[in-house]
Amino acid sequence: MTPAPNELPAPLKALVARADDALARALPGEDIPPVELHRAMRYAGLGPGKRLRPLLVYAAGHALGCDGPILDAPACAVEIIHAYSLVHDDLPAMDDDDLRRGRPTCHIVFGEAMAILAGDALQALAFEILACSPEGDDAQARVAMLRVLGTACGAEGMAGGQAFDLSAVGRKLELADLERMHAYKTGALIRASIKLGALAAGCKDDAILERLERYGHAVGLAFQVRDDILDIEGESAVIGKTAGKDAAADKPTFPSIIGMDASRARLRELIDTALEAIAPLGERGEWLAALARYTASRGH
Ligand code: IPE
Ligand code: IPE
Ligand code: MG
Ligand code: MG
Ligand code: MG
Repeated sequence: MTPAPNELPAPLKALVARADDALARALPGEDIPPVELHRAMRYAGLGPGKRLRPLLVYAAGHALGCDGPILDAPACAVEIIHAYSLVHDDLPAMDDDDLRRGRPTCHIVFGEAMAILAGDALQALAFEILACSPEGDDAQARVAMLRVLGTACGAEGMAGGQAFDLSAVGRKLELADLERMHAYKTGALIRASIKLGALAAGCKDDAILERLERYGHAVGLAFQVRDDILDIEGESAVIGKTAGKDAAADKPTFPSIIGMDASRARLRELIDTALEAIAPLGERGEWLAALARYTASRGH
C-alpha cells in the first residue's frame, strides 16, 4: 500500500532507525567525564526528531546507487549540526523556547551554560565524525564533504540565516528577503544533506548534481514554509514545540507576509519543482520524491 504523503514509506522508516543507531554510537557516552556535558549532548542529539537530514543523505546516496555504510558518517554529521542549531535556537537569547521534540529544551534541563557548551561540542563533533570516519578512502571527497558542511552551517548558511532572522524581528520583509533568510537558516543544511549523500556516493556527473541542487533548493525552502504554517496551524502537543511562537515574537514568516493561501500555493509550487528536478532519476529517485512530498504535508 502506498503511504499517505504525510507518512514515510517503510524503507525510509527503517533508515530513521539506522540513523539513530549511528548517532547513538557517535555521541560520547554518558558515563565518560564530563558527564553532564555528554548527557546534554546525547539529550539533544538523540531526542525524538524526524531525522529528515540523515534521510536526505541516505536517499541521495540511494538515488546514485550507493546504500553502504559510507553514508552513515555524513548522515550523523549533518543531524548533529542540526541538533546543535536547535539547542542554540531555543536559548533565551534567541527564540527562548522551553519545549522541543515534545520535551523540555536542553537549557531547561541542563541550564543555559551547559546548553551553550553542548551546542559547541556537537558542532565540533560533527566535523570530527566526517574527518575520522573509518569508511571511505577518497581523501578528496572527504575534504569536499567537510567544506560543504562548513559552508552550510556557517555565516553563509545556517548561522547567517539565524542572524537574518534576529535582525528581521518586528520588520516586514520583502518576499525575496524572507526567501533568502529561509534559504540560509534552514535550506543550507538541507541542501548540504543531499550534496553530502552525492559526494559519499562518488557522483561526478555535473548534470545530476545540478538536478539534485535544484531539488535541494526547493525542498529546503519548502521545509521552512511548512514550519511557518505549522507554527500557526499546529498544536503544541503534535508539533512538539510551542505553537504560535512566531507571531508572539513578531517574526516575519511566509503566512505573515503573503498569507496562508499563497503560502500553501508556494509550497505546492516548490514541491512540483523538486519532483520535476529528480524526475529523470526514475525509480532510484523514489525516496527523494517521498521526502519532498513529506516535507510539504508533514504534521509535525
Ligand atoms: C526544526 O527542524 C527547525 C527548522 C529548521 C525549521 P525539524 O522540523 O527538522 O526538527 P526535528 O529534527 O524533526 O525535531
Ligand atoms: C530554526 O528556525 C532554524 C534553525 C534551528 C537553524 P525556527 O526557529 O523557525 O525553528 P523552530 O520553529 O524553533 O523549530
Ligand atoms: Mg528561530
Ligand atoms: Mg525557534
Ligand atoms: Mg519555526
